[in-house]
Amino acid sequence: MNVRTLFLRVGISCFAIIPRAEAADAAPMAATVNTLVIHADRGRDTISRNIYGQFSEHLGQGIYDGIWVGEDSPIPNTRGIRNDVVAALKKIEVPVLRWPGGCFADEYHWKDGIGPAEKRPAIINTTWGGVVENNHFGTHEFMDFCGQIGAAPCVCGNVGSGTVQEMMGWVEYISSDADSPLANLRRQNGRADPWPLPFFAIGNENWGCGGNMTPEFYADNFLRYNTFVKDYPGNKVYRVACGASDYDYHWTDVLMQRAAKQIDGLSLHYYTVPTGDWSHKGSATEFTEAEWHETLRRALKIDELVTKHAAIMDKYDPKKRVGLIVDEWGVWHDVDPGSNPGFLRQQNSLRDALVAGVSLNIFNRHCDRVKMANIAQMINVLQSMILTDKEKMIVTPTYYVFELYTVHHDATLLPSELHAADYVVGGEKIPAVSASVSRDPAGTIHVTFCNLDLNRSAEVACELQGAKANQLSGRVLTAPEMNAHNTFDNPNAVAPVEFLAFKSTADGFSATLPPKSVVLVAVK
Ligand code: AHR
Repeated sequence: MNVRTLFLRVGISCFAIIPRAEAADAAPMAATVNTLVIHADRGRDTISRNIYGQFSEHLGQGIYDGIWVGEDSPIPNTRGIRNDVVAALKKIEVPVLRWPGGCFADEYHWKDGIGPAEKRPAIINTTWGGVVENNHFGTHEFMDFCGQIGAAPCVCGNVGSGTVQEMMGWVEYISSDADSPLANLRRQNGRADPWPLPFFAIGNENWGCGGNMTPEFYADNFLRYNTFVKDYPGNKVYRVACGASDYDYHWTDVLMQRAAKQIDGLSLHYYTVPTGDWSHKGSATEFTEAEWHETLRRALKIDELVTKHAAIMDKYDPKKRVGLIVDEWGVWHDVDPGSNPGFLRQQNSLRDALVAGVSLNIFNRHCDRVKMANIAQMINVLQSMILTDKEKMIVTPTYYVFELYTVHHDATLLPSELHAADYVVGGEKIPAVSASVSRDPAGTIHVTFCNLDLNRSAEVACELQGAKANQLSGRVLTAPEMNAHNTFDNPNAVAPVEFLAFKSTADGFSATLPPKSVVLVAVK
């Protein structure tokens, strides 16, 4: 019996995991008791699949090495794009990909990244490590990559250091079928048809790296730049305005007050910094239970942020036409020891998987307003899905959360009330359990649970109103250690397995979630 199977079995019997050596003398901790009422008869809002979006920036090995290796690389590729990465991403059905930044977007000049690769100018990536960017991955390569993984492109334009004419030209180059100089330049560069351009962002973090603007100044600039982002025949652009960072409610208020009519989506950025101290964020893999708890406490704050930003949006847009677009979120740790500090490369443990699980449950629950979210970032940067090292590739625990949660894509949110026990460490309380529920078009109800408690399993009694639990199945993501992570030597340390710790009850079903786990239960 391997460790994961042992763990699963122990979880089913409701005992906490105890290392073999200590099992004889340590008493198992009692499970927490929790309830979830699911209103299967009250589904109304759709969980946009775009909540499961990703973000890739020209930053460290996010693009080069991670996606792009070039056609001459010995690493198997299709037109320069890694085949292993494409195959892995197809499995999590990435709905939308944001590019080229981030901060890089407001120093990116798109014409540098088109035409024959050898003629493209090299520039300095001043924000991320001061490295030379050869521009070999540009608009055509990005669109090709989106096509290969089946994602919709979300292109972020340059407001901070670019002109209105430049932004206007990029949209024309991508999406116009006219016999115009820019559409013809695209044809000359090998692409006859325009690409669909469903999403375009007017700048990034313009309150900071995107130009240090006031909300009033940015709102005016948004209106000006946006005027020239045209909908060419056959294409309709969803316009994303730069939104607030964290708790900056004033920014949201000003943008909504001045520009709501022209905005389709307003962004929000929130990073979970485990220590709360940007100068010492903490290690991705070495941490205590107190740090585990504090990380999750900080991750859960996004619920309050979404609620409060959404309430401001409600004031100006009660019909909820404007989407809240959480286009950067995730855990930001100290970089991997010995790696370039400008490359933001970090390992990804079971703790990160729990952050992803609770955050996605929160976005699902707010799907009446949250229309897109993009975890930062897809490959080799921050809370990534994938890590590469030359020809090697592994997927992270966070990847598996995205895989488990694919069942929610475009499903109907089922309202639910969760009463969770407290998980208390050092006097700080957080709920031990997080959950969200949806019904897919075939009628299957899916519940994604997270048990945040490191030590205690969680009993969840689920009352199903308006449905019956005839058939149950599930999968669970957990590991014996809180800092378990996948490495190139041990790529499957954290991976989901079958979950069986459930049973039907008179009014629904109950499940016993192992400590520190993400669990998917399907109810037919
Ligand atoms: O994701 C890394 C950086 O974080 C992005 O470039 C920027 O938008 C944010 O500050």
